[in-house]
Amino acid sequence: MKGLNGKSIVVTGGGSGIGEAVAMMLGEAGCSVTVADLNGEKAKAVAQAITDAGGTAQDISADVSDEASVKAMVNAAISAYGKLDGACNAAGVPQRGKLLHEVELDEWDFCHGVNLRGLFLCVKNEIAAMLENGGSIVNVVSTAAVVGFPNGAEYCASKAGAAGLTRGAAVDYATKGIRINAVLPGGTLTPMLKGAMEVDPGLEPALAAVHPMNRFAQPTEIAGAVRWLLSDEASFTTGASFAVDGGHSAV
Ligand SMILES: NC(=O)c1ccc[n+]([C@@H]2O[C@H](COP(=O)([O-])OP(=O)(O)OC[C@H]3O[C@@H](n4cnc5c(N)ncnc54)[C@H](O)[C@@H]3O)[C@@H](O)[C@H]2O)c1
Repeated sequence: MKGLNGKSIVVTGGGSGIGEAVAMMLGEAGCSVTVADLNGEKAKAVAQAITDAGGTAQDISADVSDEASVKAMVNAAISAYGKLDGACNAAGVPQRGKLLHEVELDEWDFCHGVNLRGLFLCVKNEIAAMLENGGSIVNVVSTAAVVGFPNGAEYCASKAGAAGLTRGAAVDYATKGIRINAVLPGGTLTPMLKGAMEVDPGLEPALAAVHPMNRFAQPTEIAGAVRWLLSDEASFTTGASFAVDGGHSAV
């Protein structure tokens, strides 16, 4: 794909699911990938898979809800590869599968601490590293930003915030060479969705039924859209909420 080879790109949540698929695709496209995850072992395995396939990657254990950790992640990319050209922010946590009146404050804070506060910390520090040379940031949000999920109001709120943060930041940096977009995946077969379906057995049929394609995505189907938005082919796209959801949000 045009305009990806040689770019230094960070992927948060890169150890699993959508982030893992993005990291692998970027490695194949000739990027230098910094695979960041709270689970350092998973990040290490993905970075190893990229280098085993002939690509360039490093791993780092990082907690997106901790600013010192986020700064260390950005600095690791710059130290290893001399610059930061892009970021895919895929780290996230799911809903508890509860009605809102049953959600405890610490559960709300945990969800928002990763999905919204953590995203703010990542986007803030990634932008700071891109001010001189420009770049592209893609936030992995969710159709939950625009559609109500049963038993997931705290998750919907965090993802709606993430989409709003994306739009607001995109406007502020549009003339500074930094593009900021959101991908809104529908149900995607990752460890997160499989885990949520185990906790809430009603989720699988309910979720499948609201996707007009009547199936869930594979992580690579989401990663392809992220890859395009990170590339120079998307040079006129910023502030977009790009649905990759089998028609879920079109209903
Ligand atoms: N799977 C779906 O159906 C689906 C749909 C829409 C949106 N999403 C979003 O896509 C993103 C990726 O989800 P996934 O399905 O690939 O899940 P996943 O659980 O497979 O991967 C998420 C990764 O994020 C990491 N992570 C969690 N908290 C972190 C933290 N504080 N700091 C750093 N890393 C952290 C986890 O260790 C994990 O490796 C999430 O933001 C999720 O909300 C997923």
